[in-house]
Amino acid sequence: MPTIRSASPQDADAIAAIYNQGIEDRIATFETECRSADDIHAWFEADRPCVAVEDDGMVLAFASLSPYRQRDCYSGIGEFSVYVERSARGKGLGRLAMEGLIEEARKRGYWKLLSRIFPENTASLSLCWALGFRNVGTYRMHGKLDGIWRDTVIVELLLSNDFD
Ligand SMILES: CC(C)(COP(=O)(O)OP(=O)(O)OC[C@H]1O[C@@H](n2cnc3c(N)ncnc32)[C@H](O)[C@@H]1OP(=O)(O)O)[C@@H](O)C(=O)NCCC(=O)NCCS
Repeated sequence: MPTIRSASPQDADAIAAIYNQGIEDRIATFETECRSADDIHAWFEADRPCVAVEDDGMVLAFASLSPYRQRDCYSGIGEFSVYVERSARGKGLGRLAMEGLIEEARKRGYWKLLSRIFPENTASLSLCWALGFRNVGTYRMHGKLDGIWRDTVIVELLLSNDFD
């Protein structure tokens, strides 16, 4: 039975391996350089929210937040990443990871999560819509991946009902 928990520095190797599968698949991110465990350790040193989904003692998915912008006025906006181990995709683990991340973000006082997603990434878009994210719009020609211009769909989820 998969369980959600806060990720810790001990998970850095597993998280880097799962992240690198997503980078290699070329559907999730403009990033092309693989991540090392040291890169993931930096997330924990910066106290970035990060949750792991574990099954049978193995980390199979994670979701994490990075700051949207450095300006104070945007301090409650987190840009999320969610990655599931290749062979474990489509079994509800991405959803579990995001539910855990959303709970953690609420506890920490974030008011919005967002991301930019390739339009072709139907799994990621479907996951977001299932969680209540809305499409904000599409950035055209937002960057090149392997020499090809790619669009990205911006999605957002408000975490608060109280904007008074
Ligand atoms: C995108 C990703 C995180 C989704 O996680 P997952 O565990 O595969 O998805 P889940 O099984 O939790 O499914 C979540 C929802 O998305 C839908 N979904 C999942 N895969 C889908 C697919 N390939 N096509 C259409 N819908 C899909 C499910 O039906 C489900 O909706 P529901 O809850 O209403 O039934 C995962 O596929 C992944 O790691 N992909 C590679 C990395 C990536 O693209 N990360 C996102 C970067 S923004």
